[in-house]
Amino acid sequence: MEKNVSFDYSRTGVFVTAEEVDAMKVRAREARNTLLTRSGAGNDYVGWIDLPLDYDKEEFARIKKAAAKIREDSEVLVVIGIGGSYLGARAANEFLNHSFYNALSPEERKAPEIYYAGNSLSGTYLSQLIGIIGDRDFSVNVISKSGTTTEPAIAFRVFKALAEKKYGKEEAAKRIYATTDKARGALKTLADAEGYETFVVPDDIGGRYSVLTAVGLLPIAATGVDIDALMQGAADMRAYCMETEESDSFMYAAFRNIFYDQGKAIELTSNYEPCCHFIAEWWKQLFGESEGKDRKGLYPASVDFTTDLHSMGQFVQDGSRSMFETVIDIQSSKSTVTIEAEPVDLDGLNYLTGKDMDFVNDCALKGTLLAHIDCDVPNLIVHVKDQTAYTLGQLFYFYEFACGVSGYMLGVNPFNQPGVENYKKNMFALLGKPGYEAEGEALKKRL
Ligand code: PA5
Repeated sequence: MEKNVSFDYSRTGVFVTAEEVDAMKVRAREARNTLLTRSGAGNDYVGWIDLPLDYDKEEFARIKKAAAKIREDSEVLVVIGIGGSYLGARAANEFLNHSFYNALSPEERKAPEIYYAGNSLSGTYLSQLIGIIGDRDFSVNVISKSGTTTEPAIAFRVFKALAEKKYGKEEAAKRIYATTDKARGALKTLADAEGYETFVVPDDIGGRYSVLTAVGLLPIAATGVDIDALMQGAADMRAYCMETEESDSFMYAAFRNIFYDQGKAIELTSNYEPCCHFIAEWWKQLFGESEGKDRKGLYPASVDFTTDLHSMGQFVQDGSRSMFETVIDIQSSKSTVTIEAEPVDLDGLNYLTGKDMDFVNDCALKGTLLAHIDCDVPNLIVHVKDQTAYTLGQLFYFYEFACGVSGYMLGVNPFNQPGVENYKKNMFALLGKPGYEAEGEALKKRL
C-alpha cells in the first residue's frame, strides 16, 4: 500500500525518552490486542474495524444511485443530522470539494449546493436556510441512528412540511432519504409509513465511527465524490493497521498517552489548510466522546493556522504549558497562486517573487512547529499526501483505529457516550416533554 497518511514523532526527542516509548508500546500492544480480539468494553460497537471490506454492497450501489438522482433533480441538498450523524459528511465534503463549493455555478459543480441542518436549535439559522433554498428544487437526507434526537427531528419536521407543500406528499417522499436504524426509532417508523428510501446505520457502529456507512456516504457521494476511492483508502489503511503491529496509527495512540501520562491535559490539533477545519471538528468528536469519561481523557482542541496564530497563537506560545500539538500537514495543494514582482517594492514583498503560496504556508508551518517546540509544546505531525478521496479514506481509518487503541490504553470504554444524555434529560424536562414533568418542576426552581 502507498501510505498517504503517516505519523511523524521525529521531533519529540527532547520531551520523551526511549524508555517511555518502549513502556507505552507495551500498553499500546495490549490495547490493540483488546480491540482486535473484541474483548474490551463496548466490543459490540466495533463493526467499524472491518467495515471498509465488510460493507453492504447492495446498499452501496443504492447510495450511488440515490446520489446520482439527487444530482439530477435537485439544486440543493439539505443534510439533516448532528454529531456523528453530521460531522463526517461535512468533514469529507469540505476537505474534498472546492473551497467555495456552494458558490460555484451549477455547470462547474455538477451537483447540488449542500447545506446542513439539525445540528443546532437556532431558529435564525433554520429560517435563513429556508430563505436560501427559496423556490429551488431540493432533496433532504435526514440522518439519525436513534431516530429520536431532538435537533434533527425538529429540522426534519420543518423540511418535510416544506417539501410536501412544494411537491405534494407523494413527490416529496421521492426526495426524502432517511438514514437510520434498520428497525427501531421514530424516524424508521416515519420513513416506512411515508415510503422514503432508507439507508441503514449498522447496529455495531456508533455515530462517531459511522462516516464510512450510509451516514457519511450518501451526502458525500451527492457532491460527486468518488466513494469507491474513499472506501479503498480506508481498506488499505485497515490492512496496514492489521498487518503492522506498530503502525503509524498505533504509534499516534502511544504518543498521545505518553503526553497524557506526563500531565498534558489538552491535545491541540492544528492545520494550515481551511479545508481541514471540519476534519478537526470530526476528530474532536471522535476522541472527545470516546475518551472523555470516568473523569479521564485528553481534551481535544483545534486551531486553524495561520488564522488562529493571530488569536490563539500567543496562548500556545506562552500560556500555561498544558498541551501538546498534533499538526495536520497537507503535503500537496490542489492549486496555488504565485507571487509576482512589483516594479516598486512598497509592501516589501519582492523577496518572495516567484514563490507560491504553498511555499509561504510551508515556511509558516515549519517555523511555527519549531517555535512551539522551543516553548515546551511537543509537536507531533500527521502527514497527509493530498486532498483526494483515497487519502481521506486512509485518514479516517488512521484516526478511528488510533482512537480505539488509545481509549483502551486509557482504560475507558471508547464506544459509549453516557454523558451525552444528561443535557437531553434537562432539556426535555424544561420543554415539558410528557414523562419529564417532575424533573421539569425541580429544574425550574434552580433557575
Ligand atoms: O457519536 C454519537 O453517538 C453522537 O454524536 C450521535 O451521533 C449524535 O448524538 C446523533 O445521534 P443520532 O444519530 O441518534 O441522531
